[in-house]
Amino acid sequence: MHLTCGVFGLGVVGGGVVDLVTSYTKNGRAKAVGASIFIKKVCVRDVKKAKQTLIDTGNGDNSSISIVTEYDDILKDDSINCVMELMGGVTNAKDIVFAAIAAGKHVITANKALLANFLSEILLLLSKNPSVKLCFEAAVCGGIPVIHSLCSDYYADSINKVMGIMNGTTNFMLSKMETEGASYAEALSEAQSLGFAEADPTADVEGLDVQAKLSLLAKLCYGRNIDLSTVPTKGISSLTSTDFENMRSMNCTVKLVGCASAFASSSLQEPGSVQIYVSPHAVPLSSPLASVSGAGNIVVISSKNMGESTMTGPGAGRYPTANSVLSDLFRLSCGLATPAFPLDEPLLAVTNDYSGAFYVRVTCVEECDGNGGEGGEGGVGGVGGEGVVGIAQKHISTELRTVAAAAGVTCSSISCNESQANSLYMKTGVTCESNMQAFSKGLSKCKWIAGPPFYMPILPASSA
Ligand SMILES: NC(=O)c1ccc[n+]([C@@H]2O[C@H](COP(=O)([O-])OP(=O)(O)OC[C@H]3O[C@@H](n4cnc5c(N)ncnc54)[C@H](OP(=O)(O)O)[C@@H]3O)[C@@H](O)[C@H]2O)c1
Repeated sequence: MHLTCGVFGLGVVGGGVVDLVTSYTKNGRAKAVGASIFIKKVCVRDVKKAKQTLIDTGNGDNSSISIVTEYDDILKDDSINCVMELMGGVTNAKDIVFAAIAAGKHVITANKALLANFLSEILLLLSKNPSVKLCFEAAVCGGIPVIHSLCSDYYADSINKVMGIMNGTTNFMLSKMETEGASYAEALSEAQSLGFAEADPTADVEGLDVQAKLSLLAKLCYGRNIDLSTVPTKGISSLTSTDFENMRSMNCTVKLVGCASAFASSSLQEPGSVQIYVSPHAVPLSSPLASVSGAGNIVVISSKNMGESTMTGPGAGRYPTANSVLSDLFRLSCGLATPAFPLDEPLLAVTNDYSGAFYVRVTCVEECDGNGGEGGEGGVGGVGGEGVVGIAQKHISTELRTVAAAAGVTCSSISCNESQANSLYMKTGVTCESNMQAFSKGLSKCKWIAGPPFYMPILPASSA
């Protein structure tokens, strides 16, 4: 199919897409794979800036591309049969994508927030316009081809779990905190000065960006539309350098991980469920997730036939992300585009109470007695039945045990931070997040606690 395209947005991604399309037209690559693609118009706000972008990315011939500022110059142009929405946001972008689909134009977008927030409406609109293809390879993990792979390579498989590091900004920050001992504020400031983090970093650091991406992956894996407000989501803004010190003692590091797992129902008549959440995790150094540093991304898929498979690569950046858009364009032009979301399992339940062992950090009002390490030497004896290091016995022995037990939590070890004697960290046995909330609430009421406890799941050593 010949694609005549209108592009909304000529920024980091849009500039790369125009460059690649015109370069591949010039060098014959598009024709060689059977694709026929012409970019007729780009729509931006700032025409002068767009002209400069076309000069900077002019490796092919982009002289015939018109720069416009009115959406209808593209949406009402009947010669345009493919719209690329590469401008971001969920208001104007929504109007554009919805109008394009309604007008029968194919849509390629890199906009995970738009897709995740309006998925049900978009699917309804697509069902009313069955000739329209919606492609979004660039929306999750930038350059990693995870979307198409889930739509095609895993179509005959049965996915148990999809998890990964899906936000380059926070991974960059966590790498800085780990390797350079940077504080959260220092790491954020550096990410902003290097252009990795937005002026308003909330979506990245509070895990909302991962939440949107993970919900799209969960839809592809399990067929269930995910209401974002039901996804337990914790970001990295409460982490401190103390956590990284503690991680070293535990042979772990910290990564912001999104995880979605399927659970079969015990009854054949009942649908199963999907457990989905986003949280920083204590990740064992032996895990492949631990070695993904800087702005890199990784997705790990566990499935019935394939076992465990892993995709790593750049999660952002002009050419990695533009490459994903180009893959969509080529597949669309060659008639190889798959349905956007092939699976539909509306009855699958979504559970928001995830389980695991947890790391908990608490700061005490008085210094702890012990000198770090784990195990059963010294101290106050077992909490939840197991060993405790020497810590402020008079304050916590009875109370901690009582609070943990009341919340249904066992503490498998308690240690003091090596450099701050009033900072404790503990590992729990396997429990669920709702119990951890109750434990945290109970701890917050203890007289010897100086601030709210911080907790996060510990990735099992056997799990990626
Ligand atoms: N950057 C990445 O590495 C990356 C990776 C994966 C996915 N994405 C997604 O790709 C999309 C674009 O990201 P980006 O980094 O390329 O953004 P960007 O560099 O900020 O570029 C945005 C472009 O959209 C245009 N634009 C914004 N609002 C507009 C409006 N209301 N009307 C007309 N034009 C408008 C801007 O034009 P003006 O300059 O004239 O304002 C600019 O050309 C987003 O959805 C993002 O989440 C980006």
